[in-house]
Amino acid sequence: MTKILGISGSLRKASFNTGLMRAAAENLPGGVEFDTATLHGIPLYDGDVEKESGIPDAVTALKQKVMAADGVILFTPEYNNSIPGVFKNAIDWMSRPSADIAKVFRGRPFALAGSSPGNFGTILSQNAWLPVMRTLGAELWSGKRLMLPKADTLFDEAGTLTDTDARDRLAAFVKAFADFAGAEGAR
Ligand code: FNR
Repeated sequence: MTKILGISGSLRKASFNTGLMRAAAENLPGGVEFDTATLHGIPLYDGDVEKESGIPDAVTALKQKVMAADGVILFTPEYNNSIPGVFKNAIDWMSRPSADIAKVFRGRPFALAGSSPGNFGTILSQNAWLPVMRTLGAELWSGKRLMLPKADTLFDEAGTLTDTDARDRLAAFVKAFADFAGAEGAR
């Protein structure tokens, strides 16, 4: 069984990106387990809090979910042509203490997917993740790209992915990534 974790970088209830993650979990190939996570409860990174109280429980829980996964898909919104602050903040917390980077990120397969109402479907946000993933030593999978533009035509008002072509593309993306992550895990 290949274990894939999805993390949505939006806190919004009707988020397109959380909806994309939900749709991924609903249409899985055989042999794949899909866990999901959101960033609710993750505080702003503060070095004083880290020093005085250690790593917050919500961050530890998310790190544990990542460590239990053979591969992780970041469902990333795009804000001002880059990564939303809440998502970068969560990854920054997860890279603490730095001694844990090796077990949380290094060599672990990560993939990027996203959707936005504009014409480019999070391409610039996905590009902005590249130096972050490289710094953390993650095994960034680039076998396929999933950027869904014009999100308001693909999702309903509750954030459910209703477009059948997009659902098929998403399923193919998840299958190809799970094949990669499973093979990496077996290595
Ligand atoms: C946006 N949005 C946006 N979209 C985009 O394609 N490129 C961008 O640079 C931006 N910039 C941006 C900045 C800020 C501050 C906000 C709040 C929004 C629109 C964004 O894609 C849209 O709000 C999505 O709905 C966000 O993703 P979720 O929450 O639906 O997953």
